[in-house]
Amino acid sequence: MSGADLLPSQRSLFDIPDDVAYLNCAYMSPLPKASLAAGEAGLRRKAQPWTIPSTDFFAMSETVRGLFASMIHAAADDIAFIPAVSYGMAQAARNISLRPGQTILTLAEQFPSNVYPWMDLAERSGATFVSVPRPADDDWTAALLARIDAAAGVVAVPHCHWTDGGLIELEAVGAACRRVGAVLCIDGTQSVGALPFDVKRVDPDFLCVAGYKWLLGPYSLGFLYVAPRWQDGRPIEQNWIARRDSEDFAGLVNYKREYQPGARRFDVGERSNFALMPVAKASLELILGWPVPRVAATLKARTDAVATRARDELGIGSAPAARRAGHYLGLRFSRGIPADLPARLAANSVFVSVRGRAMRVTPHLWNSDADVERLFASLQRP
Ligand SMILES: Cc1ncc(COP(=O)(O)O)c(C=O)c1O
Repeated sequence: MSGADLLPSQRSLFDIPDDVAYLNCAYMSPLPKASLAAGEAGLRRKAQPWTIPSTDFFAMSETVRGLFASMIHAAADDIAFIPAVSYGMAQAARNISLRPGQTILTLAEQFPSNVYPWMDLAERSGATFVSVPRPADDDWTAALLARIDAAAGVVAVPHCHWTDGGLIELEAVGAACRRVGAVLCIDGTQSVGALPFDVKRVDPDFLCVAGYKWLLGPYSLGFLYVAPRWQDGRPIEQNWIARRDSEDFAGLVNYKREYQPGARRFDVGERSNFALMPVAKASLELILGWPVPRVAATLKARTDAVATRARDELGIGSAPAARRAGHYLGLRFSRGIPADLPARLAANSVFVSVRGRAMRVTPHLWNSDADVERLFASLQRP
């Protein structure tokens, strides 16, 4: 993608004061103004419930299901609503049977919502929970592929490591999983929306994405992709709207064994959420309009520039560009993060975060060159 295809700053779409350098999308995105307005209108409807017809329990959910599906090249039928990644991974773990001697592969220092469900499944099944150590050369893909053998039952990984953006080449991992019959469960929370993802190329079994980071959406409304081969599985809860004919409110007590089609049986209860669903819709529409490949290219140009300048001017390193996700930078301080750095960042209203030994710099389209100047003013000692 050439420079001409990069997106200009979209700061005017967000409510961010000029003197705030918010470089922390990996923590939580700000809501776009349009999404905030949609949420305020949605919340207001609950003050007048006679304005909410029963068809609204379905219509907007279906639209949002379709929007998210298009972002990952899936079908609307493949998507369920989840309140958290932990919930989506619990749905996956509920449906996977393992034997003693099989392994569940994860990465060292992986986010806990994609760790605890697997420790629990290992305990219940007698399978072995494995944490692949951080490779010295930042090549997570090679380190993981080396462990995907005939014993592998589950591979539960992200697209990029949440501490520093370390990239996992998921197409290669997907192919290896299919070769040995392992179930691939992906946490796309720190990537989907900012890094292209195609279920047809990766072929995951399950993919969970929290909505409040790179999807620019609300807290507690996320998405679960369920591959068609798992869509006749057993959900962890039994809610009324997931059953066939739930559109017929008068007939709800004609209890049904059958579910709504596709992945809808895995929807969290009360997923129709009249306040938050419009927020998710507005945010997804914004991202799809940019669209994701241009977001990815623009953020990569931004983080590449920060990485180069940090190395050349300050001697601060990071993973090689080819081994990290383009939107995500972890700055590595060889002698640890200086004790006075948090105070310097705070004094300049620069927002980043520390995870493990890395300082995460995760910009988005609201950022300007001035934000980067504020970051470097803080990194340079006075
Ligand atoms: C990689 C990753 N997954 C998931 C989450 C959130 O998990 P949950 O939705 O279970 O609260 C985070 C939050 O920081 C994260 O970084």
